[in-house]
Amino acid sequence: MSARLIDGKAVAAEIRTRIAGEVASFLARTGKVPHLAAVLVGDDPASAVYVRNKQTACEKAGLKSTLHRLSVTTTTEQLLELIAQLNADPDTHGILVQLPLPAQIDSQHVLDAVTPLKDVDCFHAENVGLMVQGRPRFLPCTPSGCQQLLIHAAVETAGKHAVVLGRSEIVGKPMAMLLVQKGQAADATVTICHSRTQNLAEIVKQADIIIAAIGKPQFVTANMVKPGATVIDVGINRVGDKLVGDVDFDAVKEIAGAITPVPGGVGPMTIAMLLQNTLRAAQIQVGASQT
Ligand code: GUN
Repeated sequence: MSARLIDGKAVAAEIRTRIAGEVASFLARTGKVPHLAAVLVGDDPASAVYVRNKQTACEKAGLKSTLHRLSVTTTTEQLLELIAQLNADPDTHGILVQLPLPAQIDSQHVLDAVTPLKDVDCFHAENVGLMVQGRPRFLPCTPSGCQQLLIHAAVETAGKHAVVLGRSEIVGKPMAMLLVQKGQAADATVTICHSRTQNLAEIVKQADIIIAAIGKPQFVTANMVKPGATVIDVGINRVGDKLVGDVDFDAVKEIAGAITPVPGGVGPMTIAMLLQNTLRAAQIQVGASQT
């Protein structure tokens, strides 16, 4: 293996330790524990695992988490009613609605209903707008987790060509916005590739930094990677009984300069950033009510 391994598990553990300290000081100062409400609708096993991991991480860092588990037949109106209650509850600082929601639910309507001050996923249009303008209230969890990995691995991004594979609202679009902004692990020249992109392999081959978030197992092959490039793999795909990323890790690690593994790369960082956002949400809300 020639590439440096970027160990997301280790970086996330460091960040979680820092957050635990900040949560303790927040409690000492305000008497309040930052509190995340996680909403899980239906019985998708993968979503249940993700939510459980998020709750465990909260508890380990001293944050409170409450799971609201709703049946697979829940209606949009019923979910909106729960969101309204959580919005109004001064003891709840962050609200996370695990996606995907069952098909009968109007997901956009539900996400729009989360009050922006508690929107720890940074999905609300107000928070996305603030982030795009470079004055973020919250940073989107997975993209900011990727950015933290670039910082930690001391990857030069200024003036470099970053290629983001995927244009999802959760990862691709916000990732591109963070990379193009002024600042640390940013100032990049950014290209977004997606399912309609022509000559995709040639474009990816020009990248100094590849962020793969396309949701296709082992899509990025060694022949698409410039020698020495940094490869951040956001994908989590189940193939048989194995989890693989969007990058053909075994082949690409021989070409890349640095690479994240799956699992143990971006996944733990998403959770660490969620904790960060929940603490921030509590700081914003409790701070505002005390002034
Ligand atoms: N489903 C997959 N990733 C995410 C995420 O980051 N947040 C939420 N709420 N749901 C998801």
